[in-house]
Amino acid sequence: MDNNITFSIIKPDAMGRGDSGKILARITEAGFRVAALKMLSVSCHQAEEFYAVHRERPFYPGLVEFMSSGPVVVMVLRHHNAVEAFRSLIGTTDPAKAERGTIRADFGTNVQQNAVHGSDSPENALREAGFFFSAIEIF
Ligand code: RTP
Ligand code: MG
Repeated sequence: MDNNITFSIIKPDAMGRGDSGKILARITEAGFRVAALKMLSVSCHQAEEFYAVHRERPFYPGLVEFMSSGPVVVMVLRHHNAVEAFRSLIGTTDPAKAERGTIRADFGTNVQQNAVHGSDSPENALREAGFFFSAIEIF
């Protein structure tokens, strides 16, 4: 399993505040290399599919609505132990509980509108990268 890539989304809350440039700078300054990147709108159906693992959770309908509420930036990132390294950089799910200096602590709004997504395993990183990018778009 390739442990050197992760997948991330700059979510609609951060995009709406115009924070995508600052967040991208944090990511690259932390040593991640951008292997793929694009800006797009996620449809309701795509958001449902992307977060299907959370289908039974009470926050699922709100999450789907939020993720399809405006444009996002999706990207594939390279780093040694990328999944773990990126989740340390973004901090825990709830920005109010996220460690100082993490992206979610500095740019997130609340437990739903938490500025960024990061894959939770190398398997899911590959699945998520393939959801948005074809092989020839990943460098
Ligand atoms: P993500 O998948 O977006 O990187 O976030 P995560 O692993 O830290 O958290 P996860 O449990 O996978 O939840 C996915 C996203 O659902 C929203 N959420 N809302 N209202 C709530 O209690 C709640 N809990 C989670 C967040 O947008 C979270 O990132
Ligand atoms: Mg997750």
